[in-house]
Amino acid sequence: MSINKEQDFGTPVSTSSQLVTLEIDGFKVTVPEGTSIMRAAASIGIDIPKLCATDSIEPFGSCRLCVVQIEGGRGMPASCTTPAAEGLKVVTQNQKLAEVRRGVMELYISDHPLDCLTCSANGDCELQDMAGAVGLREVRYNPIETHLDAVKDESNPYFSFDPSKCIVCSRCVRACEETQGTFALTIDGRGFDSKVSPSQNQSFMDSECVSCGACVQACPTATLMEKSVIDHGQPEHAIITTCAYCGVGCSFRAEMKGEQVIRMVPNKNGQANHGHSCVKGRFAFGYATHKDRMTKPMIRPTIKDAWQEVSWEVAINHAASKLRRIQAKYGKDAIGGITSSRCTNEEVYIMQKLIRAGFGNNNVDTCARVCHSPTGYGLKQTFGESSGTQDFDSVMKADVIMVIGANPTDGHPVFGSQMKKRLRQGAKLIVIDPREIDLVKNSPHVQADHHLKLRPGTNVALVNAIGHVIVTEKLMDEAFVKERCDVASFTKWETFIAQEHNSPEATESVTGVPAAELRAAARLYATGNNGAIYYGLGVTEHSQGSTMVIGIANIAMATGNLGRDGVGVNPLRGQNNVQGSCDMGSFPHEFPGYRHVSDPDTHQLFEAAWHAELSNEPGLRIPNMFDAAMDKNFMGLYCEGEDIAQSDPDIQHVHAALRAMECVIVQDIFLNETAKFAHVFLPGASFLEKNGTFTNAERRISPVRKVMSPLAGYQDWEVTQLLSNAMGYPMNYSHPSEIMAEIASLTPTFAGVSYEKIDELGSIQWPCYDEASVGTPIMHEDSFMRDNGKGLFMLTEYVPTIERSSRKFPLLLTTGRILSQYNVGAQTRRTENNAWHAEDRLEIHPHDAEDRGVKMDDWVGIKSRAGETVLRATITDRVQPGVVYTTFHFPESGANVITTDNSDWATNCPEYKVTAVQISKVNQPSEWQEKYRAFSETQLDLLEQGINNS
Ligand code: SF4
Ligand code: SF4
Ligand code: SF4
Ligand code: FES
Repeated sequence: MSINKEQDFGTPVSTSSQLVTLEIDGFKVTVPEGTSIMRAAASIGIDIPKLCATDSIEPFGSCRLCVVQIEGGRGMPASCTTPAAEGLKVVTQNQKLAEVRRGVMELYISDHPLDCLTCSANGDCELQDMAGAVGLREVRYNPIETHLDAVKDESNPYFSFDPSKCIVCSRCVRACEETQGTFALTIDGRGFDSKVSPSQNQSFMDSECVSCGACVQACPTATLMEKSVIDHGQPEHAIITTCAYCGVGCSFRAEMKGEQVIRMVPNKNGQANHGHSCVKGRFAFGYATHKDRMTKPMIRPTIKDAWQEVSWEVAINHAASKLRRIQAKYGKDAIGGITSSRCTNEEVYIMQKLIRAGFGNNNVDTCARVCHSPTGYGLKQTFGESSGTQDFDSVMKADVIMVIGANPTDGHPVFGSQMKKRLRQGAKLIVIDPREIDLVKNSPHVQADHHLKLRPGTNVALVNAIGHVIVTEKLMDEAFVKERCDVASFTKWETFIAQEHNSPEATESVTGVPAAELRAAARLYATGNNGAIYYGLGVTEHSQGSTMVIGIANIAMATGNLGRDGVGVNPLRGQNNVQGSCDMGSFPHEFPGYRHVSDPDTHQLFEAAWHAELSNEPGLRIPNMFDAAMDKNFMGLYCEGEDIAQSDPDIQHVHAALRAMECVIVQDIFLNETAKFAHVFLPGASFLEKNGTFTNAERRISPVRKVMSPLAGYQDWEVTQLLSNAMGYPMNYSHPSEIMAEIASLTPTFAGVSYEKIDELGSIQWPCYDEASVGTPIMHEDSFMRDNGKGLFMLTEYVPTIERSSRKFPLLLTTGRILSQYNVGAQTRRTENNAWHAEDRLEIHPHDAEDRGVKMDDWVGIKSRAGETVLRATITDRVQPGVVYTTFHFPESGANVITTDNSDWATNCPEYKVTAVQISKVNQPSEWQEKYRAFSETQLDLLEQGINNS
């Protein structure tokens, strides 16, 4: 089978609206002005030989293989760097051109190992292709000096660098600069000595390289090559699917050999990523076939017993009868389920359907509870729809970019690269974050104009101060407010926000941000033309998370930064399908499409469609489930794809609640932390083993396609369907497309969505109201989605969190992410990504470290009002004095042992971002860590015993 390669047009597309017509080899062609002759030729099927050009980066004109002749013109210009112009007559093939090209190729080949047959790129090498294309038959040169014995760099775990095969075309260098924006590569030396060099002649691993793979993708030879291709040979076929890691939702070609993934290549036509990727989606897919994958259903009477492997039928019937028995004993509402933002839309939809219609209650919640639930609440209240307003490409039109509580280069790397590109083009940057994220000044050619380094927990005071400047300095877009917003609500907000206690001067002592700096930033946002806000969990995971989202919406409306390209309010979603899992009705108070369960029309609609009596009472949220479990009112849980025993706050309480339940059913690909408390384990399928869709942070519904058979035999939606049938609520879908058809029939914003349309368009951004619609890249263009079409201003009084630093707990701990690991780390920890980040560390400012006698790499105990854990210290001034920071990717780190149970007033989203702590030097793990280790080892023994006994 041959792999269907994507066409390479040689140079990037021109977006000019002006057209020019020229003639190439006698054929007329019309292209946008600024298109290269090479691209114009490729568009009519004439492939001019090339080596140093590729359509993902700007042309460079170094190899001279692409020369052409132009009637009336002098010499032989390179077609990659010569723009098409009106009336040109171009010849791409004749004797003279052929001789020049052969000469060029002869030179390249004379310094190239002639091992094509055994080369890993054999069949996928542009140098080889070009030798054939120009008809090279002999190499007359026999150079005295060559690069053939240059030493390989194997330091990167995923790709190798073999300089003996390098033709110094600099495609890798340009890809690293233009596409990724890391500038890790240079061409070092001159003439014969010139060579590709990572940073200062370092190995790839020691350089600034972030292993995004853009250079590997761009390399026309086997110089930069995926190790998986070297090990397993060239792939045979490719299937387009969507990355299962973050909310960017990159599109990939899964390049396969039979059922084995050989490599994941970012899809050039991917509308979210335009052919770019990060280290996770590009390389960290090995977890899907890791030896820890669970492939057999298992049951056990209690969590002290060994697991017993059983058939699917036994496991499902056992789970169903246990749940039914609990309902009989404790009441209908004593069971519920938790869905995950890692699951597909279709899986989430039928899970909540099972709970609402099959369990007969609304006890369904999702992990978005602990991340973006305040976004849902805040944006729904103000704009009428709980989603981001823009597509990612909108950032390329932004003039001022405000990043609040987000770290795009680590958390959303492909979008981070796009944002950096826009910043290098000159857009201004305001960063609001307690910590110095890379965008502030650690990204080449990017620097924040203002870094408002606020104290954790003071977001609302800060956004109010920005609002105060906008109102009192008359920086509003009055016409926008008058036409597009609820004027009465604006008037109230204007009066409130103008009050002195909201001024930058009054809030300075609270936020720690100098008033003058804040005023300058507010002016820049309000007056810098297109102002776009991007925010993350640093906004939502606070006791006033929803208030802050509303505060952001207020300033965007006041300045008219909504409803067009280049502006907007954009939550950067953490996990791949946070948006989708919320859309699909996985909150206890809402049916799919964010309609309240008590709304009579909606209630009736779903009762009729699902043929079931549904409750119109909102069900339990995740924290309420835990509390109810401790009170013996919630005794059975079905948890799919979510690891609450690691990811939720105040973890000791969560563990106690799980121990208190009579039946915990976990459906996952690994025996995760929650499964250690489970009685039934249902093996899940990775994203490579199932069909469905994910919805990314820009509301883009993209296809997830099965590229290999499910290791455990079933896709996850099939498992939920089996459980539903066993519970007595019949479901008989034969494909997820049927589930999507049902979603579309019941959800107005999805009415025009279908698998056929997704196949045809590649993806669709909801709202998509009917068959004719191709979706909505930018929301609220003419009116807001609220009933009266007007944006609503709301008052945002700053209420300090009750979590304060004190003499006993003088430092504030805040948390974040790192590029190479993902969320609880269940996937990335089972890949070579550990080479970059093998443990969670505590970042501490040099002054705070010195005060406590803590040195780099020391073990430090971190004690909060909730608990204690131990991590190693990294001393850095990226954090400000008084603030410490950690990631939470490793269960043994116990970051959530110390987080408190404070939560957002509106949505219960936990306050992960502010915990008062004390730090001290220690030399042993915390008591919790010792206990956790022992418990974890016991659970792994019980698993081992079960496997050995079956
Ligand atoms: S490593 Fe590849 S892309 Fe980079 S200069 Fe060498 S051949 Fe060109
Ligand atoms: S992998 Fe990415 S960051 Fe590393 S050198 Fe290549 S393009 Fe640059
Ligand atoms: S940016 Fe996100 S979606 Fe894209 S490859 Fe990386 S993890 Fe996957
Ligand atoms: S492809 Fe045009 S000069 Fe190399």
